[in-house]
Amino acid sequence: MSKTYKIGVMGGDGTGPEVLKEGLKVLDAVGKKYGLKYDLVNYDLGGERYKKTGETVPDSVIPELKKLDAIYLGAIGHPDVKPGILELGILLRIRFELDQYINLRPVKLYPNVATPVKDKGPAEIDFVVVRENTGGIYTGHGGATRVGTPDEIASQVMIYDRRTVDRCIKYAYELKAKRNQQNPKYAEKPIHLVHKRNVLTYCGDLWYRAFEEMGEKQYKNLKRDYAHVDATTMWFVKNPEWFDVIVTENLFGDIITDLGAMIQGGMGIAAGGNINPEGVSMFEPIGGSAPKYTGKNVINPLAAICAGGMMLETLGETKAGQAIEQAVFKALESGKIKSLAAGKMGLGTTEMGDLIASLI
Ligand code: IPM
Ligand code: MN
Repeated sequence: MSKTYKIGVMGGDGTGPEVLKEGLKVLDAVGKKYGLKYDLVNYDLGGERYKKTGETVPDSVIPELKKLDAIYLGAIGHPDVKPGILELGILLRIRFELDQYINLRPVKLYPNVATPVKDKGPAEIDFVVVRENTGGIYTGHGGATRVGTPDEIASQVMIYDRRTVDRCIKYAYELKAKRNQQNPKYAEKPIHLVHKRNVLTYCGDLWYRAFEEMGEKQYKNLKRDYAHVDATTMWFVKNPEWFDVIVTENLFGDIITDLGAMIQGGMGIAAGGNINPEGVSMFEPIGGSAPKYTGKNVINPLAAICAGGMMLETLGETKAGQAIEQAVFKALESGKIKSLAAGKMGLGTTEMGDLIASLI
């Protein structure tokens, strides 16, 4: 019996549409094998539309998105649009409106992929960051007064409530329990809470107590540890093998996952999911719109392809999702891919999509 999923497709800006096309190619191949069909709903959102109409996400679109099974996003960001407009108006708006409170970002080094981290390989770089995705500094609390004068004051406040912290930590503990079952190597490692509680004494303390209390009461069998965010960046480079599941607040998660993307071989392979475990989730390559590579068939679609795999896994299509991951693994293992960097892959964007689809 085949199942049909209603997927919102948002190519967005720059290379977004190109990489999504390859991702859809692979989803199609996997769908044929596992009996999945997709009802694709296209959304023309992004910088071009904003320039023409002044609209980011029209209000009428939000209730439509809530009826989808998932959203597949290419990239948001346009060189001619002032920073903040599309990011806040599209990406953050959807994250907030759909309450996608988890940003799940695997950091996994595949075989034959070059990492800038000396003497570390796939055995050492294999963890996942659970980034809180609806709170903190991203809520935009703050303002500015006396703007343009020498006395200008600006504030932007990190805000968290216990419920928001608890639901994120809960997700992370559940994920940790699942990974420990999957692989004894993961079970040896603790789940880490990452924060800056030596300075952010209010928010850090809230996160720390929530993490400790839940760990003690409900997940006593899971090892847990705490790390400061600055030290974490150091350990990503020095001892990435210490990590398995990391849970952290929004901005810290944003920053450390860019570093995570680099140690796993770059933006060409880094995928992420904006997840509402009870609602509609959105999956994307985290690399951005790469305007200078647009339309040249040189951008790496692997991150978008992997994001498609995450989408299927989150929809409960575990086998199909893993088949995508395994196809990417096989392609890299084969040595046919020279590099993950745009223009240096040894094959074009569409050829990469063909290769992965053929390995499904
Ligand atoms: C990301 C991006 C976004 C963020 C920007 C584009 C708003 O950097 O998804 O990591 O900061 O969350
Ligand atoms: Mn980011």
